Amino acid sequence: MSKLPLVLPFDSLVSSAQLTPQIITGLFRITDDMTAIVKQSGTTRLLEDKIVALLFFEPSSRTMLSFQTAAQRLKAGTVFAQSANTTSFEKGESIEDLIKIVAGYADIIVMRHSQPGSAAIAAEVSNVPFINAGDGGNEHPTQSIIDSYTIFKEKGRLDDLNIVFGFDSLQSRSIHSLSRLLAQYPDNRFVFTGPDELLPDDKLLSELADAGVKCKVQSEVDYRDNYDVIYVNRLQQERFKDKKLFESNRRKYRITKRDIEGSDVLLLDPLPRIDEIAVEVDDLPNAVYFKQASYGVPVRMALLATLLGKAN
Ligand code: NCD
Repeated sequence: MSKLPLVLPFDSLVSSAQLTPQIITGLFRITDDMTAIVKQSGTTRLLEDKIVALLFFEPSSRTMLSFQTAAQRLKAGTVFAQSANTTSFEKGESIEDLIKIVAGYADIIVMRHSQPGSAAIAAEVSNVPFINAGDGGNEHPTQSIIDSYTIFKEKGRLDDLNIVFGFDSLQSRSIHSLSRLLAQYPDNRFVFTGPDELLPDDKLLSELADAGVKCKVQSEVDYRDNYDVIYVNRLQQERFKDKKLFESNRRKYRITKRDIEGSDVLLLDPLPRIDEIAVEVDDLPNAVYFKQASYGVPVRMALLATLLGKAN
């Protein structure tokens, strides 16, 4: 892997479209360094003079806890705001105003918010680095670094991959971000599967096609075909305008042991797992979703340190 120093051409991460292969290679190298540090000594004083603001206005467990753990392993201080109810959003304050205030307190801001596009608005007005930890059903770029790191660790490459995405490609920000990231590598082929109403929209499909990805949409897939990766995400219940559509599809799509046992296809899920993977699958060697979740800490350590100019 390249040992060239990583120079980020941006101070804020809003979309995985910003993550070029060169940046990803650098971030993976720093992630490996962070893993070694955690293993050897648990913590490092790299960010001891920094404060990380964690603004989570939508439910989160993995993303919030792994960012907090990452900050603490780097010895940064953290400040938190966890729901719209405990901040001035409730009083009608705008995202712009809130971010300007928090940028005056902290050295970097991490925000999850239910509004698609909120991350771009925040990054625009913030005068400290900003990280999108999920903006509604739009993007989740830090998850896509974790996902691609997992694939790279297991398969040794991010190009020439045959990938199935399911089962709510319309509303899953994790699928949007990972597909955009992998579209920057040559020879990748994507099959999107799930209920017809939850297949990706034309905007994403044409963006991926323009980037050179061969995309198919199929209501059913034989997982025993020659796939390298199956990437599934739960139906995004909270984003359905039509609740009946959610109820009528919630248990229809599920990966079972029979689908992948004995093959070397990798099964990833950003989690939480709801109905999309049977629990019996967890023991298979190709079920890597818990390992994938564990990479959240070193990846986010690498990102915090890099955006704050303390690692390259
Ligand atoms: C994802 C998210 O929040 O979009 N979770 C996560 O960050 N690991 C996936 C999901 O909620 O389904």
